[in-house]
Amino acid sequence: MTRLRRKKNIYARLSACASYWFEVPVANRGCWRQACGMPPDCPLYLELGCGKGRFAIETARKNPGVCVIALEKEQSVILSAIESACEEGMTNLFFLCADVLLLRNYFTPGEVDRIYINFCDPWSRKNKPKRRLTYREYLETYKTLLRPCGDIHFKTDDSRLFEFSMGEFEVAGLGIRKITRDLHNSPWNAENIRTEFEEKFAEQGVLIKRAEAFKPD
Ligand SMILES: C[S@@+](CC[C@H](N)C(=O)[O-])C[C@H]1O[C@@H](n2cnc3c(N)ncnc32)[C@H](O)[C@@H]1O
Repeated sequence: MTRLRRKKNIYARLSACASYWFEVPVANRGCWRQACGMPPDCPLYLELGCGKGRFAIETARKNPGVCVIALEKEQSVILSAIESACEEGMTNLFFLCADVLLLRNYFTPGEVDRIYINFCDPWSRKNKPKRRLTYREYLETYKTLLRPCGDIHFKTDDSRLFEFSMGEFEVAGLGIRKITRDLHNSPWNAENIRTEFEEKFAEQGVLIKRAEAFKPD
């Protein structure tokens, strides 16, 4: 009963911000910029597993000419991100409550300019590498959806996941650049936008690893 009531409440809150999220993402496959009211030639950045949305919000603020779409599978988590964007009246940030597994149903080949993967689950305790969002099969999907020269910006606290991902990027035929195993003391720190999880790990003294993988021309 309590769960049902909570769910009802989530829908009511989501409905109040209806213009900031897309309930049926497949409907906009191939026409996201238009659906978001953005110019047809503007860049489209996609964040996978955005959590509470701090990174997506700041990225959209800093890049007003970019259409930012943040995707998260947990409704109760993405809700606060949607409400923040709505309160601020942002015009270039939108949300999908959806699973990365179904990404090909939501975007057409070449539709996306950049993908962000921030602090995805390392799946190391259960030793399930195929579930990592940087596993080669996921990378094939991202490669298809990215335009030529499009890129993936990847950050993690987890050393094993990071080294694994470097290998997977190579297997997928992606170029790799701007690699650092200590982002906060690297030349790329100045332009870095911290996520919620990143802030938490940094407070614990964990070094943040980061790299960019890019699709060849
Ligand atoms: C560890 S949290 C990181 C959140 C945020 N990116 C950050 O750095 O603060 C990972 C997030 O990814 C979401 N997630 C995991 N697998 C997903 C999937 N297959 N599709 C969509 N979201 C997913 C989880 O629900 C969770 O909110």
